[in-house]
Amino acid sequence: MKTIFSGIQPSGTITLGNYIGALKQFVELQEEFNCYFCIVDQHAITVPQDRLQLRKNIKSLAALYLAVGIDPNKVTLFIQSEVPAHAQAGWMLQCVSYIGELERMTQFKDKSSGKEAVSAGLLTYPPLMAADILLYGTDLVPVGEDQKQHLELTRDLAERFNKKYNDIFTIPEISIPKVGARIMSLQDPSKKMSKSDPNSKAFISLLDDAKTIEKKIKSSVTDSDGIVKYDKEKKPGISNLLSIYSILGGISISDIEEKYVGKGYGDFKADLANVVIEALTPIQEKYHALVDSEELDNILDMGAEKANATATKMLKKMENAMGLGRKR
Ligand code: AQP
Repeated sequence: MKTIFSGIQPSGTITLGNYIGALKQFVELQEEFNCYFCIVDQHAITVPQDRLQLRKNIKSLAALYLAVGIDPNKVTLFIQSEVPAHAQAGWMLQCVSYIGELERMTQFKDKSSGKEAVSAGLLTYPPLMAADILLYGTDLVPVGEDQKQHLELTRDLAERFNKKYNDIFTIPEISIPKVGARIMSLQDPSKKMSKSDPNSKAFISLLDDAKTIEKKIKSSVTDSDGIVKYDKEKKPGISNLLSIYSILGGISISDIEEKYVGKGYGDFKADLANVVIEALTPIQEKYHALVDSEELDNILDMGAEKANATATKMLKKMENAMGLGRKR
């Protein structure tokens, strides 16, 4: 059975972008693959986080994984900082990374631009992400398009390590969804939807209530020609809304376009809000039943134990390959 690894940062409440680009695929993939799904809290601290809020976000993200349909009996669901091999392997992979290649990462450039104090962790995020993936002998990594560059670097680092030290790493393939790989901000359709966007109108979180969803969709930025038509270049706002409608409503984009011929954006947006609310309501109900439960803690304990067992073995191989510690 092939292995999948994917992580999400608990840097806020996950958005429709994270759901459509990543989580939604996970539910199907768990049937066919040996899946490791991780709450990557060590990645989240590459930018400042409030301690109590971070703790809350970690549990909330764990509950959301389960609420969307991840089955803890089929997958290993765990928190990155509860498996110390990630940080240890991340350090080793930092030592095979070049500063130049890390500085070229778009995410580093975006998140550091204009900031006075940029953490070293923001620069060395990709080798930690490579460690997350490589520790599990991962064959496939399902991600949104924004993570493609980091995945390519992961493959380079694995190949470099295999050549220089010992051929221990599987070179992972990247899996990007054909539709919805990049859900855009509702306020600026040239930017991706992000859970840490300071403008909360820019994203729909999986826990937004019906009123908030309606308001956010109503105030989303579109264009002035009033025609519901997919054209990513000329009509990025409407095209983004059409993608969301199509994926969550299970209707093709051309069928939606046909449905709204002669109607304005008002009708389209009101119906889209209903589609989103209908998709999120059952997820939210399951979420509330789980988030403060003992069951959730038990699932995360079980996940950490299983992940630790696998990751520690690969870590040992890495240490042996690099000559760290004593041979045992
Ligand atoms: N807008 C998006 N459209 C499609 N997929 C997306 N992903 C993120 N944004 C979109 C995918 O979600 C997964 C988890 O992402 P992450 O939390 O690890 O980090 P991120 O990519 O940096 O996501 P955010 O929401 O933008 O987080 P912040 O605001 O903290 O930086 C990944 O598979 C990602 O591709």
